[in-house]
Amino acid sequence: MDVRLENLSKSFGSNSVLKALDLTFPERKFVTLLGPSGCGKTTLLRLIAGLERASGGAIHFGGERVDHLAPADRNIAMVFQSYALYPTMDVAANIGYGLKVRGMAAPERSEKVGIVAKVLEIGHLLARKPRALSGGQRQRVALGRAMVRKPDIFLMDEPLSNLDAKLRATMRGELKRFHLDLETTSIYVTHDQLEAMTMSDLVAVMNEGVVQQFATPEEVYDRPVNLFVAGFIGSPPMNFCDVTVAEHGGVPVLMLAGRAIPVPPQFTLTRADEGRRLVLGVRPQDVRLADLDDPTAVPGTVWMVELIGSERLIEVEVAPKLRITSEVKAEVRAAIDAPAAVAFDDAKLHLFDPGTGLALPRAD
Ligand SMILES: Nc1ncnc2c1ncn2[C@@H]1O[C@H](COP(=O)(O)OP(=O)(O)OP(=O)(O)O)[C@@H](O)[C@H]1O
Ligand SMILES: [Mg+2]
Repeated sequence: MDVRLENLSKSFGSNSVLKALDLTFPERKFVTLLGPSGCGKTTLLRLIAGLERASGGAIHFGGERVDHLAPADRNIAMVFQSYALYPTMDVAANIGYGLKVRGMAAPERSEKVGIVAKVLEIGHLLARKPRALSGGQRQRVALGRAMVRKPDIFLMDEPLSNLDAKLRATMRGELKRFHLDLETTSIYVTHDQLEAMTMSDLVAVMNEGVVQQFATPEEVYDRPVNLFVAGFIGSPPMNFCDVTVAEHGGVPVLMLAGRAIPVPPQFTLTRADEGRRLVLGVRPQDVRLADLDDPTAVPGTVWMVELIGSERLIEVEVAPKLRITSEVKAEVRAAIDAPAAVAFDDAKLHLFDPGTGLALPRAD
């Protein structure tokens, strides 16, 4: 069932946390809310769950307005950022609790608990009490408690945050698999963009209580709608450079650190744009090191070199205080303070208006 938010807002006193959201989470899709700390992700999830009342607007599940329904009447399952287990019950009873209160018989319950526990690799812990579990194990019990029911809507608030890197990677796959098997609508909160990009059908990038972009992971990465999304998505972050539109040989060009860069074909600039200031964005993955005598490259000196596993980051200073990071294979060597030149993959360049922050319209 789909979840539709209509002009939804939430304030705590004078603090306006969510601002007139209009958003539809399509049926059976895995949607991620991604944004910096404090942008309102948990608040939005709590509104959908019914744990918090909206200050304005409406929430619909499958076309039915649910604002007046108590959490228990919304057929949702939620895994909280700070989860609480029943301390006196063992793991099996914790996971099966929701089934028990719904009157499911013990043998069937234990079968369902067993299946979920196996998926979560906590089958050997079923007889333990929560106090005898590690943080990551407790988190998986909390997940299990939500997974064991068949909710219409599955809400998860950073459910993998206490797990180590290896287990997180495994659990990402398990959760996605589980979502597909359950055929439920999943809304997943994270500020880990790798999680968002790998698991989601759609990503809602939020900042300061406003959804900045709601699109597929590919689109959010390849066509960020504004400077915030462009800078928030991608690691290391996108390079931003101030450029000015100028005329060169009768055609508009972008002036960057004294060099004329052709306007990428996906953007249409005219003579009327001459003198206009823009922000050029390019991801480190789309910057390469060029020959020093390459006329299309921007020359500078190597500022910093960092090895990050199989890649190397090379920061080149092309003008005072203007550094461009290039991500290259680890085999590529560069010496600090040595001359270097950077060149861009044209098709991967982004242009933004510095006033509005919006991406310029593209032809592709
Ligand atoms: N019960 C509350 N009373 C007052 N202010 C609140 C309440 N709950 C949240 N806030 C405020 O609302 C804003 C959004 O909080 P929220 O918990 O939704 O952020 P978040 O995006 O989940 O952040 P994080 O990634 O850190 O979990 C914050 O400024 C927070 O201080
Ligand atoms: Mg939160």
